[in-house]
Amino acid sequence: MTKAEIQQVKQRFGIIGNTETLSRAIDVAIQVAPTDLSVLITGESGVGKESFPQIIHQYSRRKHGQYIAVNCGAIPEGTIDSELFGHEKGAFTGAIGERKGYFGEADGGTIFLDEVGELPLPTQARLLRVLESGEFIKVGSSKVQKTDVRIVAATNVNLSQAIAQGRFREDLYYRLNTVPIQIPPLRERGDDVLLLFRKFAADFAEKYRMPAIQLTDDAKQVLLAYPWPGNVRQLKNITEQISIIETNREITANILHTYLPQQNMQRLPALLDTRESKSFESEREILYSVLFDMRQEVAELKKMVHNMMAERAEQVGRLFLLP
Ligand SMILES: Nc1ncnc2c1ncn2[C@@H]1O[C@H](COP(=O)(O)OP(=O)(O)OP(=O)(O)O)[C@@H](O)[C@H]1O
Ligand SMILES: [Mg+2]
Repeated sequence: MTKAEIQQVKQRFGIIGNTETLSRAIDVAIQVAPTDLSVLITGESGVGKESFPQIIHQYSRRKHGQYIAVNCGAIPEGTIDSELFGHEKGAFTGAIGERKGYFGEADGGTIFLDEVGELPLPTQARLLRVLESGEFIKVGSSKVQKTDVRIVAATNVNLSQAIAQGRFREDLYYRLNTVPIQIPPLRERGDDVLLLFRKFAADFAEKYRMPAIQLTDDAKQVLLAYPWPGNVRQLKNITEQISIIETNREITANILHTYLPQQNMQRLPALLDTRESKSFESEREILYSVLFDMRQEVAELKKMVHNMMAERAEQVGRLFLLP
């Protein structure tokens, strides 16, 4: 694909940024779109994964078919099989009517399985079958059904770790990951952070009908140096907050700092070390003060017991002195 074509895709799907790795990810999505291969989109939270299954669907022969996005992490374990694969009437308590399920509905289309790492193991087995043979069975049925669905999945968790812990099927992982697309974190996108800030600032200026906020040069440096653990979503949220709260539309480094969670600034090993030893020191201080308090309490307790015994002895003595 030419640069101009990729630029067009970015415009159409509202994707801002010129980083090579981001353009490459878009390029792969376009190349793979006309095939029926499964695609697994990985990347940290907030990097912009959600546009990719839409790009793949729109550039495929399935674009006139259904596009169904399923958030696997948001559906309760008890109902997910019936939502995905449908159920027969009376399959379980409350199954009044029958249900087609997303795999039946999306026949000829695309299903986007977001947060795929959250799928329960029995559902993973059903999904593997439909990926391998296009076959599935409704909950409470014995009839095998056929469907022609393209799967695009996404995850922000490390699936290899989930496999090692026995929470994700390895065979399913390889089947979903036929074509991997990695979306880079914001901190690895260089100047894109400034482009994105400008875009969001302009959008919020329009939304709230006020002039757009602007960054001073030192504030731009802060934006570039910040590690953005929440990626583009975090940048967008912060830009909105500043747009609403700050009356002065020129944003300095000092003002910007107040919006950035500080603990996340300390990524450098040297800084981490001092932070750790500091927290160790404060832990030791807390321990000492607890010990000191305990010693005082023990001393007080001893005194109390001593006084009580003395009182008792006095009473007993008085008893014996009775005529
Ligand atoms: N390159 C970009 N240009 C413009 N907006 C972007 C870009 N990347 C992400 N966004 C915006 O950032 C927000 C977060 O993106 P998205 O929801 O796709 O994240 P995600 O990768 O799916 O995160 P999660 O793993 O937490 O679901 C959205 O509002 C999206 O529109
Ligand atoms: Mg998402």
